[in-house]
Amino acid sequence: MNPEIARINELRDELNRHNYNYYVANNPTISDFEFDALMKELQTLEAKHPEAFDPLSPTQRVGSDITKGFTQVRHEKQMLSLSNTYSVAEVDDFINRTRQALQVPDVTLVGEMKFDGTSISITYENGRLVRAVTRGDGTVGDDVTENVKTIRSIPLQLPKGDWPEKFEVRGEIVLPWDAFDRLNKEREFNEEPLFANPRNAASGTLKMQNPAEVARRGLDAWFYYLLGDNLPADNHFDNMAAARRWGFKVSKIMKRLHSIKEVDDFISYWDTERKTLPVATDGLVFKVDSLRQQLNLGATAKSPRWAIAYKFQAERALTRLKSVSFEVGRTGVITPVANLEPVLLSGTIVKRASLHNEDIIRQLDIHDDDMVYVEKGGEIIPKITGVDTDSRNMFSTPVTFVSHCPACGTPLLRIEGEAAWVCPNKYGCPPQIAGRIAHFVSRKAMNIDGIGEETVDQLIAAGLLKNIADLYDLKADQLMGLERFAVKSTIKLIEGIKDSKNIPFERVLFALSIPGIGEISAKKLARAVKNIDNLISMPLEQLTAIEDIGSGLAANIKEYFDDENNKAIIERLRSAGLQFEIAQDTNIETSDKLAGKTIVISGTFSLHSRDEYKAIIEQNGGKNAGSISKKTSFILASENMGPAKAEKANLLGIPLISEDDFLQMIQ
Ligand code: IVH
Repeated sequence: MNPEIARINELRDELNRHNYNYYVANNPTISDFEFDALMKELQTLEAKHPEAFDPLSPTQRVGSDITKGFTQVRHEKQMLSLSNTYSVAEVDDFINRTRQALQVPDVTLVGEMKFDGTSISITYENGRLVRAVTRGDGTVGDDVTENVKTIRSIPLQLPKGDWPEKFEVRGEIVLPWDAFDRLNKEREFNEEPLFANPRNAASGTLKMQNPAEVARRGLDAWFYYLLGDNLPADNHFDNMAAARRWGFKVSKIMKRLHSIKEVDDFISYWDTERKTLPVATDGLVFKVDSLRQQLNLGATAKSPRWAIAYKFQAERALTRLKSVSFEVGRTGVITPVANLEPVLLSGTIVKRASLHNEDIIRQLDIHDDDMVYVEKGGEIIPKITGVDTDSRNMFSTPVTFVSHCPACGTPLLRIEGEAAWVCPNKYGCPPQIAGRIAHFVSRKAMNIDGIGEETVDQLIAAGLLKNIADLYDLKADQLMGLERFAVKSTIKLIEGIKDSKNIPFERVLFALSIPGIGEISAKKLARAVKNIDNLISMPLEQLTAIEDIGSGLAANIKEYFDDENNKAIIERLRSAGLQFEIAQDTNIETSDKLAGKTIVISGTFSLHSRDEYKAIIEQNGGKNAGSISKKTSFILASENMGPAKAEKANLLGIPLISEDDFLQMIQ
């Protein structure tokens, strides 16, 4: 064998082992630096040897931006769900039922965690991951292999072991608490809707059409069942121990239980102890250990008779509602917040809870001074889930939504089709003005050093700021006299404002606070319109044709640029010298992002000519080829690519990549 190919194989094994040590065993044996060096070496060698390409190589975990729908796959064995119970007594009933059905005096159960995520079935053949499918309706699910491959704790290729030639492993894809919190913080910043709990976040992420984004979010997986013809053992417990040996993440919280007493003890222990786990759990699962007994018990249409889920009670507390306040955000949306008599809930003191919107307030039929139930469950922000009407004071009146803005007194508007009330006084309502300026200067927007929320409030109070354009008129001598502004801090702010003139167009767009335009949609918008004048004059139909821009966002954009106030601000920002045009792509940097990739170009494009794309491919380490073959990594394709090429690509299963996605890929 060519020594470089041998080295490729060696590096793949070594990197797979380190991935296992880090993500599964939680016991890394080399530094990140050393790991990166090995990865780099493998990437370089793979680029040199395209014939050794392997879709399961550790280099392939980063995920591509390929956008295509999911293929539907039929499960070989149906994916059933579990019947639920909420009391220990019902679990005891289950045990008695099972003993009777099997006609045995005692039955051995396995108690384990019920992970709160979304289920997955993964098939391995000859130790290689061949397919990952969601539960779907239990019979047919979505093929999400590309997304699952990005999850580092899932083995792509098993080390040598006693695994059967073909088997299926089932488990739960989860988003650990820390990754969930990080994701929601980011979404809050971008004013995108928050995920209510890690389960929604995990299933939403797994179904995304962009594996690179999936890779970024930090999913993890826990496995709880093996299926196949030649499993190593005749019982569940030992099979799971084998799966653990093969490199799967199988929870150590798994115990053989021989009596009702042991089952009850297991429940009471984990009922509290589970709160210390890094992932969300919503109960325990009890399974009959013997596979022969499992087979004898069989299943109903919905769930197996050999297993049962015991669900944890969500923790809740009863406390008094002191008042409801209405807060105004930077886009004018009014958020109702319940102020509560402080109460201890899952280890933290809760004083405030979100009431979300008017509809929720109505549904709860919440009255002033009510005793209310607060829950934390899977959510980060505690919420009110019910009212104890028995203890209601008979003279109390229902909580009503404010009709006028609590900050500026303007009558509120309810956007059609939405639950939110909005203060329309965009340019006169103080918290909206301050919120927009604070957003404009923030790190992910214009990244202006030397100014934060407090300074924004201070400069507004001093009469120096009324809108974002005023920033560019600020003079050092105006600042110098103010509290907290010494020479150094003044220079820092003035310099920061000057530097912000180099911030690229897409971030300027994001910074403007166009309702609903977050970081990502601003990027897509910038790339599609290229400059602000195109955007200002773009008709609605053309706006909605842009990826990710629906009719609601398009209307927001139109409304924003039709506004006289905004027009004036935009012109002032333009004279200040802000970037109102997408940066010239001629300065696309060289990289090795396309190393090892053979790319065919097909069709005509709007952002670059074919020759330019050829150059871009080469500048980024890729190879441009004239015709499609098995070796083609992907096709840079426009909508009008030739039908013959399209068919050949389809036959060979070669992905088509749009020019937008391609440019994003190399960015
Ligand atoms: S066993 C045929 N074990 O809970 C029985 N399920 O409510 C298959 N789940 O769809 C399920 N942790 O997504 C099993 N330790 C565990 C589990 C578990 C979480 C999920 C799974 C299933 C759902 C049923």
